[in-house]
Amino acid sequence: MNDTNEHSGGEPLQQQVEAIKWYHTIDFGGGVVSRGLDNTPDKLRRLKLPDSFAGKTVLDIGAWDGFFSFEAERRGAARVLATDSFIWGGGNPWYGKGGFELARRHFNSKVLDREIDILEMSAEKIDRWDIVFFLGVLYHMKHPLLALEHAADVTKELLVVETVVDMLNISRPAIAFYPGGELSQDPSNWCGPNPSALIGMLQTVGFKRFDVVMPPRPLAMRFVNALQLKMRKNFPFLPQLRTDRMVVHAWK
Ligand SMILES: C[S@@+](CC[C@H](N)C(=O)[O-])C[C@H]1O[C@@H](n2cnc3c(N)ncnc32)[C@H](O)[C@@H]1O
Repeated sequence: MNDTNEHSGGEPLQQQVEAIKWYHTIDFGGGVVSRGLDNTPDKLRRLKLPDSFAGKTVLDIGAWDGFFSFEAERRGAARVLATDSFIWGGGNPWYGKGGFELARRHFNSKVLDREIDILEMSAEKIDRWDIVFFLGVLYHMKHPLLALEHAADVTKELLVVETVVDMLNISRPAIAFYPGGELSQDPSNWCGPNPSALIGMLQTVGFKRFDVVMPPRPLAMRFVNALQLKMRKNFPFLPQLRTDRMVVHAWK
C-alpha cells in the first residue's frame, strides 16, 4: 500500500479522496476513509465470503469503486476482474470510474478492469471465473433471468448474489416490477424477486446448491425499518414492509 501522504497529480491523498463522489466506504489507512453512500464494511460482513480466496479467479460484476474486487485480491485471489457498465460508462452524471482508479493505484492492486454490460458477458468473451460477485446488481436488471443466465455462463463454481428482495408476503415465486421510482425512488431499479423466485431463477440457469447466508429479516424487524424509512424519507410503509435484502451463495 502506498503512503497516505502520497502525491499523485500533485495532491495529497485526502484531497484526492474528497474530490470523488464515492459509493463504497473504503479505508485508505492513516485516517483517510472515503465517504461512500454505502456502508460497505457492513455489507462485507453480511456476504459471509470465504476467508481465503487463494488460487481462485474472481469476477466482480458491477464493481463500481471496486471494494469487493480489492477485498478478493487481499484474500489471496490469483486473478480478479472488475467489470461495470452503467456507472463507469457515464450512465449517471454524478459518478464515474475515478474512485476505482484511485483505490487501485493506492493499493498497488493488480485487479483488472473491463467496461462491459452483464448482457454482453459470455464465457467466450471474458472467460469463466471460479467465484463471481453479483452484488447489488440484480434489482437493476430489466431482464433478471436473462442477466442470471449470463452470470451463470461465466461462473465455474460459486455465484455470490446480494440483492433486494420483495413480495415477502407471498411464498410462491413472484417478482415485483418497478417501472418508475417505486423502489427507493430510484428509476434505475427494475425488479425485486422474492426468495423463492430468486432461488428458482438460479436453479433455472443451472445452479445446483444454495446457501442462504443472509435471509430477509423477520417481519417485526422489517416493521421497525419500514416505520423509520416512512418517517425519515417518506418511503411508502406497506411496500417497504414487504422488502428487504438477501444474500445467497449459489453453487454449480
Ligand atoms: C448498487 S451498485 C452495487 C455496487 C457493488 N457491486 C456493491 O455491491 O457495492 C450497482 C452496480 O451495478 C452496475 N450495473 C448496473 N447495470 C449494469 C449492467 N447492465 N451491467 C453491468 N453492471 C451494471 C452499476 O453501474 C453499479 O456499479
